[in-house]
Amino acid sequence: MKIGIIGAGNIGGNLTRRLTALGHEVSVANSRGPQTLSALAEETGATPVTVAEAAKGAQVVVVTIPLKRVPELPKGFLDGAADGLVVIDTGNYYPKERDGRIDAIEDGLPESRWTEQHIGHPVIKAFNGTYAQDLLERPRPQGDPERIALPVAGDDAAAKQLVRELVDELGFDTVDAGGIDDSWRQQPATPVYGLRGSVAEVTEALAAAPRERPAAHSF
Ligand SMILES: NC(=O)c1ccc[n+]([C@@H]2O[C@H](COP(=O)([O-])OP(=O)(O)OC[C@H]3O[C@@H](n4cnc5c(N)ncnc54)[C@H](OP(=O)(O)O)[C@@H]3O)[C@@H](O)[C@H]2O)c1
Repeated sequence: MKIGIIGAGNIGGNLTRRLTALGHEVSVANSRGPQTLSALAEETGATPVTVAEAAKGAQVVVVTIPLKRVPELPKGFLDGAADGLVVIDTGNYYPKERDGRIDAIEDGLPESRWTEQHIGHPVIKAFNGTYAQDLLERPRPQGDPERIALPVAGDDAAAKQLVRELVDELGFDTVDAGGIDDSWRQQPATPVYGLRGSVAEVTEALAAAPRERPAAHSF
């Protein structure tokens, strides 16, 4: 597939590594410009691009930047994508450590719904609770007893299915975590966040999530 990755840090860098290794055609962008991505491009064969170019012709775009920087993404950055574009959001809200207070999220709006409102496109929430290093170190073939499962949430069934197949190709099982209205179940400080568990364990952890955002994880 043709995949655009916006953000080339811990998660974006490792997704670039793994998706190129699987044979996908990856374009990758950061905030400072493609000239700063030559090492990653040389290592992986991905094409370094500007944010405005990242979605050109893409079937999948991954937005993997700090949440507070999502509003900086330029208007129309998803224009020129392939029909039926699927956007993956890996984002998390870290009010104290990084993002500052975002009132709508503090008032209960799921983080990914906030991101959708800013980018003007539905998202599928995936990888947000996955350690970046696990993308490199924990892929396992289907049926391997050590294979871990990742929750995937989103409103569009076909888009979610495509992302689940991509996650499977990357070496992980998936659990359908419902729609974006349910995606608070996989936000930071929930039982599933950072869990390295089986399908059964991830399913159980999603069900056990408390609706209230823990005080320690609020502004
Ligand atoms: N680290 C993890 O293990 C992990 C796991 C799961 C989910 N997450 C979540 O995934 C997101 C990304 O995390 P990360 O750890 O990969 O971040 P990171 O290492 O801090 O990297 C952030 C990347 O985003 C780019 N960026 C920032 N603002 C941008 C903008 N306006 N336009 C284009 N690119 C921009 C940065 O580019 P420049 O360097 O050029 O500014 C950098 O490449 C966060 O929401 C995080 O909470 C992280």
